[in-house]
Amino acid sequence: METSIEQILEEALKALEDASDVETAKALSVRYLGRKGAVTLFLRGISQMPPEKRAAMGKRANDIKNTIDTALKDAVQRFETAQKGLEARIDVTLPGRPVPLGSLHPISLVTQEICDIFVRLGFDIVEGPDVESDWYNFEALNIPKNHPARDMQDTFYVSDNIVLRTHTSPVQIRTMEKQPLPVAVIAPGKVYRRDSDLTHTPMFHQVEGLLVDRQISFGDLKGVLTTFVHQMFDERTSLRFRPSFFPFTEPSAEVDILCVMCRGAGCRVCSQTGWLEILGSGMVHPALYENVGYPAGQSSGFAFGMGVERIAMLKYGIDDIRKYFENDIRFLRQF
Ligand code: DAH
Repeated sequence: METSIEQILEEALKALEDASDVETAKALSVRYLGRKGAVTLFLRGISQMPPEKRAAMGKRANDIKNTIDTALKDAVQRFETAQKGLEARIDVTLPGRPVPLGSLHPISLVTQEICDIFVRLGFDIVEGPDVESDWYNFEALNIPKNHPARDMQDTFYVSDNIVLRTHTSPVQIRTMEKQPLPVAVIAPGKVYRRDSDLTHTPMFHQVEGLLVDRQISFGDLKGVLTTFVHQMFDERTSLRFRPSFFPFTEPSAEVDILCVMCRGAGCRVCSQTGWLEILGSGMVHPALYENVGYPAGQSSGFAFGMGVERIAMLKYGIDDIRKYFENDIRFLRQF
């Protein structure tokens, strides 16, 4: 059955309703009124109709052709006006809107700065996994089964033998296992502890250092760390090596720096002591050499570990460790 001219009209008006631009309206004009358009073909077919119908059908078809034509022309005009209005509202001479650029997080910045200093001193950068075995995180570091650091309170246990590393020290073991003497590496990375308050977050960052050769002394340790502190802060920043204990070093020392806020006079930041603790260090315990198969009695070296958040807090005068992790753009923009 042929499509009736009324159907063609209905279809054309419906299609036009869905159109919203000049291109679509012009395409509809071709589809209905063009040389092979639906209306044109219908008009051509009228000569085949019974003579008594031709006149009325011809008139109706021509009316419909005009209706569609007018509707399409109106639409084209409407779309063109709308488009011009849009263009009129765009001022191409206005300056572009700046795209805000991101910047490095203060923790990334300080980690890089720490690493740069040690790289200049000849250290290589190495990394280890965040998920560690009990062996690398504790046992090989001479941390015995009953050590308080193993307490369920402090360590995130994945399973009996797998933990989220509580420090970057396991990278010392992984490095010595892989590399013969001498080694000089630093290992930046994330560490995890079950702790959360004004000065502790469950995840934080450390940089570990390890230098082992055959005749490394405590004097070398002092020299390297003094150079580091002077470059990280400034030359006026004195250091204090305080006897301490770590299972993986013997002897062990904690390093304090002269308070960067009050220069030793005593203030809130240094709890009136004039000093700030910034890292742990010591001469590598012989048990570690044994655990990695280094030549007994001939290897000597030092290690150290520092918290990046703490160093960044001192460097930038940040008073709450949680600021690093709140993603407040007003805080982050300052670095
Ligand atoms: N691993 C220690 C901690 O997380 C820090 C540390 C102390 C690292 C002494 C060392 C070191 O390499 O010699 O508290």
